[in-house]
Amino acid sequence: MTGRGVILLTGGNSGIGYACARRLARDGQAVVIASRDRVASAAAVARIRDETGNAGISEMGLDLGSCAAVRAFAREVEERDLPIRAMVCNAGLQASGKRLVRSADGYERTFAVNHLGHFLLVNLLLRRLAAHTPARILIVASGVHDPKCRTGMPKPDVGHFDVLAQTGGPRPDAFDARLAYVNSKLCNLWFAYELIRRLAAAGLSSKERPISVNAFEPGFVPGSGLAREYPPALRWIWHRVLPAVARAATRFTPSVNVTDTAGEALARLALDPSLERISGKYFPSHARWGEAPSSDASYDQTRAAALWDASVRCARLAPGESPLAG
Ligand SMILES: NC(=O)c1ccc[n+]([C@@H]2O[C@H](COP(=O)([O-])OP(=O)(O)OC[C@H]3O[C@@H](n4cnc5c(N)ncnc54)[C@H](OP(=O)(O)O)[C@@H]3O)[C@@H](O)[C@H]2O)c1
Repeated sequence: MTGRGVILLTGGNSGIGYACARRLARDGQAVVIASRDRVASAAAVARIRDETGNAGISEMGLDLGSCAAVRAFAREVEERDLPIRAMVCNAGLQASGKRLVRSADGYERTFAVNHLGHFLLVNLLLRRLAAHTPARILIVASGVHDPKCRTGMPKPDVGHFDVLAQTGGPRPDAFDARLAYVNSKLCNLWFAYELIRRLAAAGLSSKERPISVNAFEPGFVPGSGLAREYPPALRWIWHRVLPAVARAATRFTPSVNVTDTAGEALARLALDPSLERISGKYFPSHARWGEAPSSDASYDQTRAAALWDASVRCARLAPGESPLAG
């Protein structure tokens, strides 16, 4: 422990999150990695401790796809009295194909894990963050939230949020895994920007006691675990071929990266003292992780507020659970 509090990092046992955790550990930070696969998490912790000599790295089990599991996790944080001063909401999944998988609560899984689980987790831990200011919340989004981003992914098409929660898209009778992913990443930005407005309105974040909220975009980062549900041939290319291509390409385009570079850039947003009071910004790879605008749609306050209300309903967030639940 550094005496400065704990950084909670979701999805820190793999990919960008792992590289971020290692960078934070090198800086002497106390970090809790929160993921589902506890064997992988324990191995990640051991590797990071070995490499950095930082014994303040630990792991806890968290399943963002279950509101009950998120609540159990938050209770454990309370019981351990962890002084959380930063949350890095990095965990995420990208499904593949046309088969809709539901979360433990019956929601489309991509929406549930990439957005709803983090929405609930942040809300449940807000009082804890407010007690350890200056505090930071970082949301890992993706360039695919922006229709101008040319990746071959579909453009976001969200529709009504109650339908989105059920199918990941605007249609109650159709499912497209890639559309569910880009929509969940637009939700990440709406959540980040709405959270800032609500924190300020509730007097929970002030000049003197700031809780900053910023969004991060890693670029195209092959070699991570994100392709785990792709067909085997694509998975092989993602792990065996594309990292070498990315290593070469990154010199020419800032939007293609390896996990180490992206993870280190994410860690900087948690560490850099000059960012302590910077909030509501988007840090994308194409700007070499400086501030840049996110998509026009991401600044739509009406949509962001509607997503917030739908998320309160979906997570059954009760007024006593979060200062922002009302
Ligand atoms: N790689 C890219 O090109 C790229 C591009 C843009 C954005 N991103 C974003 O970057 C973030 C990290 O992705 P990555 O590429 O590093 O992929 P990754 O290696 O697969 O990391 C994802 C992490 O999320 C965790 N996770 C998945 N489902 C979870 C659940 N239900 N509950 C708790 N944790 C869960 C995983 O651990 P467990 O399975 O143990 O839970 C893993 O640690 C994601 O938000 C992703 O959308 C990635």
